[in-house]
Amino acid sequence: MADTVYRASTTAPVNIAVVKYWGKRDAKLNLPTNSSLSVTLSQADLRTLTTASCSAAYPAAAGDSLLLNGEPSDVAGARTQACFRELRARRAALEAADPALPKLSTMPLRLVSENNFPTAAGLASSAAGFAALVRAIANLYELPASPSELSKIARQGSGSACRSLFGGYVAWRMGDAADGSDSMADQVAEAAHWPEMRALVLVVSAAKKGVSSTSGMQQTVATSGLFQERIARVVPQNMAAMEEAIAERNFASFAEVTMRDSNSFHATCADTYPPIFYMNDVSRAAIRAVEQINAAAGRTVAAYTFDAGPNAVIYYLEKDTEAVVGTLYHVLGGEVGGWKDAVVKGLKPSISLDEG
Ligand code: DP6
Repeated sequence: MADTVYRASTTAPVNIAVVKYWGKRDAKLNLPTNSSLSVTLSQADLRTLTTASCSAAYPAAAGDSLLLNGEPSDVAGARTQACFRELRARRAALEAADPALPKLSTMPLRLVSENNFPTAAGLASSAAGFAALVRAIANLYELPASPSELSKIARQGSGSACRSLFGGYVAWRMGDAADGSDSMADQVAEAAHWPEMRALVLVVSAAKKGVSSTSGMQQTVATSGLFQERIARVVPQNMAAMEEAIAERNFASFAEVTMRDSNSFHATCADTYPPIFYMNDVSRAAIRAVEQINAAAGRTVAAYTFDAGPNAVIYYLEKDTEAVVGTLYHVLGGEVGGWKDAVVKGLKPSISLDEG
């Protein structure tokens, strides 16, 4: 029927890296200079819900469209276009093989996306956003694609998005093929493997970051000598140590690698010329607070990590909630200015993804 509207919805969670992706070896295909590893956070707290629809009745002249949190959003960008192109090509192949299938690949796409976390949380939403966009369209097109296959498409929207196709503990293997066919995500462990893990998001600032990840990492690749050391030695070591820490559920080791890798990433930012500073005084106060908490406990109970902005994510285990969360509220809430009271929650790792 010419006016049939085909529709599919899905959700995708936010992930926070404990071994950071920073650097592209191919900006067009969005291929990274190093592998990375993240923890996917609970969808109850942080997720994007996306509905994709298409219909021959949608006017072709209006083209594809995206409504993000109620506002029209640009889909003309190269990254969104790359995702659309890849998904349409896979659908077109199915249609060519089975002429009885409706020609969805030729119809305009309409996407409607909502985040369940406030923009004021200051969290990058591109990871959950592109993961949800890609899976919603894949579901709409009934593509027989595994999460790893979809991760290769989501990667082209935003690198970190490839890790949001899985729950739990997720690695993005950099791969070495020039066409990116082996640069994809896989699950290192399910959330249920280490269900005591918690994350706390400390919102220092909800302002948009000064230097975007995309442009910041390009500048680092082009100018930092320290970066060469990071990709050649530091990250491979951290990846191996992190996978072992997760396999053994060794929090002290998980925490040390997480903090060292965040420090290493921010050191390469400082070594970029001109330098890039994502952390501010409040961020550094959070680092000191975590050190104090660990010293007072006599063991490692908390780990900090920072992405391309000043907000801290603190990982800890459920049993240490009081020592970690209680102390952070006390130390930071009481003494440090500029602290926002936005999303500061004990987030569990995401267990599974909603399908269909
Ligand atoms: C610091 O995935 O946002 O959060 O691929 O250019 O879209 P693009 O970059 P993006 O970079 C994320 C960088 C990071 C580290 C990480 O998530 O691994």
